[in-house]
Formats: sequence, structure tokens, C-alpha cells
Amino acid sequence: MTMKLTTDPSAATLLPIAKKEGVSTVWDRHRAMQPQCGFGQLGVCCRICWKGPCRIDPFGDGPQRGICGADADTIVARNVIRMIAAGAAGHSEHGRHVALALQGVAEGRLPAYQIRDEAKLRAVAAKLDICTEGQDIPAIAAAVAKATLEDFQNQDHDAPCNWIEASLTKKRLERLQALHVLPHNIDAVITQIMGRTLVGCDADPVNLILGGIKGALADFDGMCLATELSDALFGTPSPVITAANLGVIKPDAVNIAVHGHNPLLSEVVCEVAGQMDEEARKAGAKDGINIVGICCTGNEVMVRHGIPLAANYLSQELALITGAVDAMVVDVQCIMPSVSEIGACFHTAVITTMAENKIPGATHVDFKEETALESARRIVATAIDAYKRRDPRRVNIPDFKQTAIVGFGVESVVGALATLNAEDPLQPLIENIANGNIRGIALFAGCNSTQVAQDSSFVTMAKKLAANNVLMLATGCGAGSFAKHGLMTQEATLEYAGDSLKAVLTAIGTSAGLNGPLPLVLHMGSCVDNSRAVQVAVAVADKLGVDLDQLPLVASAPEAMSEKAVAIGTWSVALGIPTHLGTMPQVTGSAKVTELLTQTAKDLLGGYFLVELDPNLAADKLLEVIEERRKGLGI
Ligand code: SF4
Ligand code: FE2
Repeated sequence: MTMKLTTDPSAATLLPIAKKEGVSTVWDRHRAMQPQCGFGQLGVCCRICWKGPCRIDPFGDGPQRGICGADADTIVARNVIRMIAAGAAGHSEHGRHVALALQGVAEGRLPAYQIRDEAKLRAVAAKLDICTEGQDIPAIAAAVAKATLEDFQNQDHDAPCNWIEASLTKKRLERLQALHVLPHNIDAVITQIMGRTLVGCDADPVNLILGGIKGALADFDGMCLATELSDALFGTPSPVITAANLGVIKPDAVNIAVHGHNPLLSEVVCEVAGQMDEEARKAGAKDGINIVGICCTGNEVMVRHGIPLAANYLSQELALITGAVDAMVVDVQCIMPSVSEIGACFHTAVITTMAENKIPGATHVDFKEETALESARRIVATAIDAYKRRDPRRVNIPDFKQTAIVGFGVESVVGALATLNAEDPLQPLIENIANGNIRGIALFAGCNSTQVAQDSSFVTMAKKLAANNVLMLATGCGAGSFAKHGLMTQEATLEYAGDSLKAVLTAIGTSAGLNGPLPLVLHMGSCVDNSRAVQVAVAVADKLGVDLDQLPLVASAPEAMSEKAVAIGTWSVALGIPTHLGTMPQVTGSAKVTELLTQTAKDLLGGYFLVELDPNLAADKLLEVIEERRKGLGI
């Protein structure tokens, strides 16, 4: 039974305990929800006004238009682009927080933060075309923050956002400009989507989807700036050996799980935890304080500091069922509201921290960058207090953890390649792609969904692509899946990589001082860090003088579920990348919208959605796409 729900080995220990304790999990609620609404699944349910809800009969017998006259194409298109707007809002709001923090640091207002990576800040300034000559670090930070915040303020419709302009190939920018889908202002574009999808506004599915593409590109802009400014503030990731899965929770430590997406708080919690370790020991925790990560907050601190990852999205509740998490500190996104109830069944303090993200039953510690240290101290003290209430008889930590070598940002990938060719680091990668040792590159991203046995599609696809010599990058909960299942190890490379991929990964890893191959899948960070993979692709495309839609590059979200994944998938397509979805998107109630996203997009943008629920077939299809692209390049 358990294996149908999840392939995470720790679930086999914990789901029976959840049952015994009377705790319902995401999988229980999924089962209770069956059968799910067919209209919703097809995207043909409209709740945009109070004359509704309306739904279109997919079999053609019942209503074919809503009460206002909207047909299935309009309804589906409106619904999907509202999802894009929500995803873009989440990522770019995260980005705005980071940009404002950078501005605060530049102005000396935020004692908890500093510029940890000055070289990265300078590189970002250069990328944004900001002159830094004779400027000190605070001045550069101020100028970078200003240019970044312009992406939320610019009112000139013809001037694209600064970050997107600095982050794509010239050809791609021209192509997007010609379609009028380059965003000029993240906030404005999101607002436009909400405005045009009101009752009685834009009813043209093509026009709506183009508006959605612009919103998705605003999402990309927000992700680029979130990633790069976080690197400047908190450090650029470099390879680090750590561990993943619930076995990273320690029985004799005060365990604090940091969960959500935004690194602004978790960075300070990590720092303060080090300072308060002695207090935890005094409270009886002989291993002091142990920070573990969940979801993308987990990925952020994992790739930067080697903090172990306890869980990805679907196992967040299981972390609490171990009975050994003393505090779960959450910021934004992907936090199941159920965690406060489960925390209350145990001794766990579930702490919300963002004014706009509260959960009934949780403790709220208001987090502001200005007073971050105080908030972090309060959070750690609350965890130590909770630890004193922990019932050791209810502790069940599964004995599962896997080594994970993580932290492959653009700089570390290029750095590793530079050990083979210092003058032209990309050359070895390009050579190996050209000669076929590496057939292509796949970026795995996105969530877990209860529609798929947790992690199974990620792992199945990765093993098949690896055997066929595809280089793999991963972010978000996809990266979490691979880390938990041991695919971010050197052993995985030796076991699963095809011969030529194995040879390349071994040559790079050995020359970069890893004493063996690079791991089979390279962990690039959190969901916003998908922008890192684009940066690598843009560098390769620029060097070859081609555009992104010519590269043997594919993306896949085999277990997607979030509106953020809709936004990411759509910009991936807009950048020219064939993008696989392994769960059914809620658009199939409109043949027109489905065609736009899976076929017309190919002519307009070069990228397109490819939906395949079977992970084996999906891997085969991506391999075909890669071979088609290779043929196009004549390699
Ligand atoms: Fe129905 Fe139109 Fe209102 Fe949607 S906007 S609920 S289709 S009347
Ligand atoms: Fe994420």
C-alpha cells in the first residue's frame, strides 16, 4: 500500500505510525477526495463571477457556454493564466524581499545581513551594465538594488525588465519582443493578467495565453533576480557533501526544520542556532541544535551551507510524525496547512513568520529584516523549550539518509570545467556534447504530487536518461527527490550513467578535486534557481552563436502540482525549451488551448509542452527530442 503512495523509504516506517496516532496525512486526504471533480481537472469550471460557477460539458451534451457566454477555450485560458499570475507573484514577491534586503544592507539599515559574496555582487553589477569603477561595495549594492527594483516600477511598456534583458540570448529577446511578450514591470504584468481575466474582459484564448506567457516571463525575471541577489547576500553555492532524508533528524539534538522558500529568515536562524547551541546542550540535548531543511528553504541552505535536507514537499508531514522535530519554522509557499494540527499532536512548535502567511493553530513570530536577529533568537528559544516537552517514547526517526553532493551553481560548474580548460571553460562541455559523449542536457524541476507515487517519476526518468548519456540538473523538490534516493552521489554516476557520460563526469570530477566523478544529478538549488540552469544554457548558446531552441536541452516536471510550476513551465517553453509534464495540466477541456501549448508554441517559440504521465515513455520522448535537436545542429 505504502509503495503506491510514495517511494520514499522513510514513509514505510512513518505512515503506520501516523495511522496508529490517528494523524491523517496528505495521502489520506487525497484518498478521501476521490473521485475528484472532472470539470476542474479539465479546467472548464469557471468561478470568476457570481452568476457562476459555470462549467462546460466536455461531452457536448450540456452547456457549451457559461452564463456570460464564455466558452471552454476562454474559460480554460483564463484559468491557466491566473495560475501563471499566482506563480509569478510568489516568486517575484520572494525576489522583491531579497532586493529590498540588499537595498537595506547598502544603506546600513540591516545589521543581520551583509554582502557575503562581493565578487558575485560585482558580477551582477556588470551583468546589469552598472558601472562600478571607483565605487565601494555599499554603493554597488545600492545601484544593483535600484536597477532590480526598477523591474517592479518601470512604466515604459517598450522597455523590457532589466533582469530579463541581461539574462537571455539576443535572438531570444528579439523573438519574444516580436511577440510583445517581454515584461516591462513584474507587478504590472501580474496585475494585467488579473484585470484581463475579469468577467467580461479578454475572451480570446490566443491573446489570453500570450498575456500568460508575458506573466511567465515576469516570473522568470523575478527568479533570476531572487537567485543572483541571494548569492550576493548569502554566498554563491559551491559543491558540498551533505545528506538527505528523515534520517538526518537527530534523536539527541534540538531539531529545527526550516521550511518554505525564502532564505532571508533561514539564513539568520542558521547563524543564531550556532550561537545558541550551548543553551540547547544545557536543556539536555547533547548534540546541540540540528537544523534540517524542507522544500526550497531547505534547498537554499543545503546548497549554500551543506545543511541536510529532511524532506521534500510530500514528506513534510512525515517529518513531524518522527516526533523529534522540535520546531518547524515556515516562511512562504508549499507549506501544508495541516502541519499545525500535526505539530499539536506532538510537541512540535510550528512557527509562521511572514505577515502574509499565517496558519491557524501555529505560533506566529513576526519576521522583519530589521529585527531578524531577535526573531531568530525567539524562534530558536521556542524550539529549545519545545525540546524539553518532547516525549522520547514517541520518537521514531527512520534510519534512512543518503549522501548528497550538492551546490552546483553556474560558478561551480564553470569552475569545475575550468580545471580542464582554464582559458575556455565551456569548451570541454561543448566538445562532449558535440561528439555525443553527452547526448543532451535535462533540467528536472518542480514539485511532488499525490497523483504520482512520490519521487517515482523523477527517479525512473533520471535512471533512463542517465543510461542514455544525458547530463542532468535539478532544482526544487525534484532535487530533493534525487538527493533522498541517492542519485546525487558519485556511486550513482558509476552505477547508472552510460559509459560516455560516466567518462565525462569522471574526468570533470577528478580534475576538480572530487576524487571521482561528479554526482549523477547536479543540484542547482531551489525552484527560483532554475534561472541558474538557464544561465548555463545561455552561455553555451552564446558561445555556439545559436538560440536556446536549438540546443539539445529539455526540461521536465514529472510530479508538478503548484501554480508556480505552471509559471516556470510556461517560461521554459517561451525560452525555447521542450518541457515535459508528468501530471495532467488542467487545460485539456479546451482543444484550442491544448494545441496552443503543445503545438503552436513550437512554431512561435521553439519550445512546447509535452505531456506524458508514464515516466518511462516520457524519458523515451525526451531522448527523441534531444536527438531531433542534435540533428538540427548537425551533430
Ligand atoms: Fe460563468 Fe461567465 Fe461568470 Fe465564469 S465569468 S462564472 S463563465 S458567467
Ligand atoms: Fe520550491
